[in-house]
Amino acid sequence: MNREDFPMLKEDLIYLDNGATTLKPQCVIDKMTEYYEKYSANAHRGDYDISFKVDQEYEKARELVRKFINAKYKEEVVFTSGATESLNMIASGFFKKYLEPGDEILITQSEHASNVLPWFRLANELQVVVKYIPLDDHHYVTLDNVKKTVTPNTKVIALASITNVIGDERPIKEICEFAHQNNIFVVMDGAQSVPHRKTDVQDLDVDFLAFSGHKMCGPTGIGILYGKKELLEEMEPQNLGGGMNESFDNPREIYLKDLPTRLEAGTPNIAGAIGLGRAVSYLETIGMDKIEAYEKKLRKYAMDKLISIPHLDIINIEADGGIIAFNVNDVFSQDVAYYLNKYKVCVRAGNHCAKILNQETGVSNTLRVSLYFYNTESDIDSLVELLSNKEKIVEEML
Ligand code: ALA
Repeated sequence: MNREDFPMLKEDLIYLDNGATTLKPQCVIDKMTEYYEKYSANAHRGDYDISFKVDQEYEKARELVRKFINAKYKEEVVFTSGATESLNMIASGFFKKYLEPGDEILITQSEHASNVLPWFRLANELQVVVKYIPLDDHHYVTLDNVKKTVTPNTKVIALASITNVIGDERPIKEICEFAHQNNIFVVMDGAQSVPHRKTDVQDLDVDFLAFSGHKMCGPTGIGILYGKKELLEEMEPQNLGGGMNESFDNPREIYLKDLPTRLEAGTPNIAGAIGLGRAVSYLETIGMDKIEAYEKKLRKYAMDKLISIPHLDIINIEADGGIIAFNVNDVFSQDVAYYLNKYKVCVRAGNHCAKILNQETGVSNTLRVSLYFYNTESDIDSLVELLSNKEKIVEEML
C-alpha cells in the first residue's frame, strides 16, 4: 500500500527491515524541510512571529500524538529521543525513587536491550530483583504465567507489547487489569507495536508507554514517553537545564515548570517532533486497522511460502506481528544477509539486541524479516526465490 509516498521505493529496493527502522514518506520529509526552510526558530523561547509558529507546530505535534494513543491529557505526552530514552527515564526517573531493596521487576527474556538494561541498572543500584516471566512453548507471555510469577514483592511489570524477534503480541490489557488489582505498575515498550496497531493507552490502562518515531515513518532521534499524569508528576527529570525550569537562585531554590516541559530540558528536537506529528497524521489517514490487517495478510502470504523451504528453520511460525525470524540450516545468518543484499534485499541478521533471548530459544542469531504496509507480495516472492536455492546461497554469500 502507498508505495508511491516513499522516495526510497522509487529505487530498486526490497526493504524488509522495518523492525529496525521504517522508510520515510515524502510528506514527513517535506514537513521537516518546511521547518528548516521557513520557521527554524527555537521553541518556547522567542517573542517573534516565527517563534510563535514553532510553538504552535511543536504543540500541535504533541496533540496529534496524544490523539493517536488516546492519552487523556496533552501533559502526558513527553517528547524524548526515542523509546530507549523513554524507558531509561521511566526506570531511573520514576522507579529509582519508588522501589525498595527486595522489590521485584518482572520482564521476559525476549525483551530488547532497552527494556532490560535500565532494569538491570536498578537491580545493581538498589538491590531490587529482576525476574523473568517464563514463556510458553511458542515463547509467548501468558496471563497465567504472569500470575504465577508475581509475588507480594512485585512492583513493576515491564513488557514489549510486540517483541522484536518473536513478534508475539502480549495480553497487555489483561496484564494491566491483574497488575493493578495487586498494586503493580505496568510499563509497555511499544516500539514494535505502536507503528503497527491502534494503541489506546486509556483502554489498555498502562501506566507508562515508550515508543520511537523512526519505526513509524517518522524521523530518527524523536520518540515518546507517555505516563499517567499523576505518575509523571512524580518523575525526577534526568536532565536539568533550559526550558524546563521556572527559576533558580541557588542550589536549594530550583523551581521547575509543569508537565510536560519539566521533562524536556534543553532545546528539543523540534524538526523531529514536527516530523513525528506529520507521520502520525499520515498513518491515521491510511488507518491503523487497515495497516494491521494488511501486515497480517502479508505475513501469512510469506509464511505459507517460507514454510515449504526445507532448509529454513523458522523460529516463530505463528506470530501476531509482521516479524519472521529464521535461519538457513548450517549457514551463519549474517552471511545470508550479505547474500540477500547483493539482490538489494534488506533484512537484519544477528541477535537484534535481544541478547538474553538465546537463553530461552537456544538460538543466538537469526535472520529477521520485518514487514510494513508498503511491502508487497512481490517483495516476498523475490525473498522466497532467493532463499529457495541453498547451493546458490552458499556459493554466493561471501
Ligand atoms: N530494536 C530495533 C530492532 O529490533 C533496533 O531492530
